[in-house]
Amino acid sequence: MADRLFLNAFVMNTTSHIHHGQWRRPDARQQDFNDVRLWIDLAETLERAKFDSIFFADVSGLYGDSDADYSVYVREGLQIPSNDPTVLVSALATHTEHLGLAITSNVFQQHPTNFARQLATLDHLSKGRVAWNIVTGTQDNGYRNFGYRALAEHDERYRWADEYVDVVYKLWEGSWDEGALVQDKEGSLHADPAKIHKIHHVGERYAVEGPFLPSPSPQRTPLLFQAGSSGPGRRFAARNAEAVFLVAPTPDVARQQIEETRALAVAAGRDADDITFHQGLSFVVGDTEEEATAKFAEYRRYASSDGYAAHMAIVDPDGRVYPEDTPISAIETNTARGFLEHLRRHVTDREPTVGDLQLQRLKDTVVVGTPDRIADEIEWWRAAGIDGVNVINWVIPGSFEEFAEKVVPVLQERGLVQTEYAPGTLRRKLFGDDRLSSRHPAAAYRGAFAEPVPTGT
Ligand SMILES: Cc1cc2nc3c(=O)[nH]c(=O)nc-3n(C[C@H](O)[C@H](O)[C@H](O)COP(=O)(O)O)c2cc1C
Repeated sequence: MADRLFLNAFVMNTTSHIHHGQWRRPDARQQDFNDVRLWIDLAETLERAKFDSIFFADVSGLYGDSDADYSVYVREGLQIPSNDPTVLVSALATHTEHLGLAITSNVFQQHPTNFARQLATLDHLSKGRVAWNIVTGTQDNGYRNFGYRALAEHDERYRWADEYVDVVYKLWEGSWDEGALVQDKEGSLHADPAKIHKIHHVGERYAVEGPFLPSPSPQRTPLLFQAGSSGPGRRFAARNAEAVFLVAPTPDVARQQIEETRALAVAAGRDADDITFHQGLSFVVGDTEEEATAKFAEYRRYASSDGYAAHMAIVDPDGRVYPEDTPISAIETNTARGFLEHLRRHVTDREPTVGDLQLQRLKDTVVVGTPDRIADEIEWWRAAGIDGVNVINWVIPGSFEEFAEKVVPVLQERGLVQTEYAPGTLRRKLFGDDRLSSRHPAAAYRGAFAEPVPTGT
């Protein structure tokens, strides 16, 4: 476990990300997400509060089954419209110095050659502050937007991801040796050809020759986040992730997930501490318990039950959200199985309903109270083994301003979070090193594509 707690701001370049309906509050500014100023101001607030990163979720299409009516998503502003976070963070890189810039990108949404180049460029221009949340997607419509017939089968999605990361690791770690970029004006040598290699990747889905066009960026491979919770998802995380995003319903469940994933990482030849775990939590902060409770009641009044259900794809083929008393066994869905299984683990005394599902989402990970009470609760999560908190917002920028002003100082007083940034890249700040650990599978590509030195026979 890391010796301090990391703080990440969980956001999306859209109006309604997680807590649906809140955009209607008078103090909500998330509907101004097209305005870069909103994000620059937020990034500056986060940096003043010494947050470790701003973490952008992303999608490639609509939730729900592809052929269903999608009007509920449009009405709710639920991740449509939404913009590309990769483009946005390049602007944030120029207004911040230390804040990590984490973006989500699905493995089918871009060719790995182009994706690797974009992230290398971002890593150069942010001086090594980029992280990638590797996702495989749960959206039928997302696949159709990229020319595929439907959502690939679950395990197939992870096989796809295996090859995708293999290609980008080869480009980031293997194509250029250290010291290849010489830029010697007198010697008239810009880069050393003997140190730049083609990768000749030929796999099931991709054929990439190389060499990689960008020279190595400060981190080479960006810091790697992952958030899958299924068996294949966890095995993928155990092999690849340096930071796992959890939304565990309780500290005990988090502890179990952490222990299992760490054990899988060790089985894959990594150290247990090569992976950090970051729990998503929302906060309702009050100067007194009564004030916090009253504020939570207000958030609940704005909460859109249609929005929560639609986010989980609990929408019938005509685009109608299933009524709250619908037993979940009556729901037909290709895409929401994970949510339904999650609920079955929590409501065990009867058949759970759509209403349970909505409430569960609102209850699971919300912490309500004074800053001290919130800090106590964060300490319980910490005791369960988490390394970081992803702060999920109700409103932008208010939820982060409030957390920065009221909760961060208490966490700092208790020595739980940093009071100053350490210098260097995002990975150096988290793990003490600019580059991926030598135990990571990507490290095997370092020097792997060099031509054999002629023996002189
Ligand atoms: C906390 C959390 C955040 C996620 N964020 C995204 C996201 O931004 N975009 C996306 O396409 N999928 C996202 N996912 C989906 C996962 O990456 C993964 O594709 C999904 O959980 C299915 O994988 P699994 O069956 O292994 O759990 C997220 C999942 C979790 C738990």
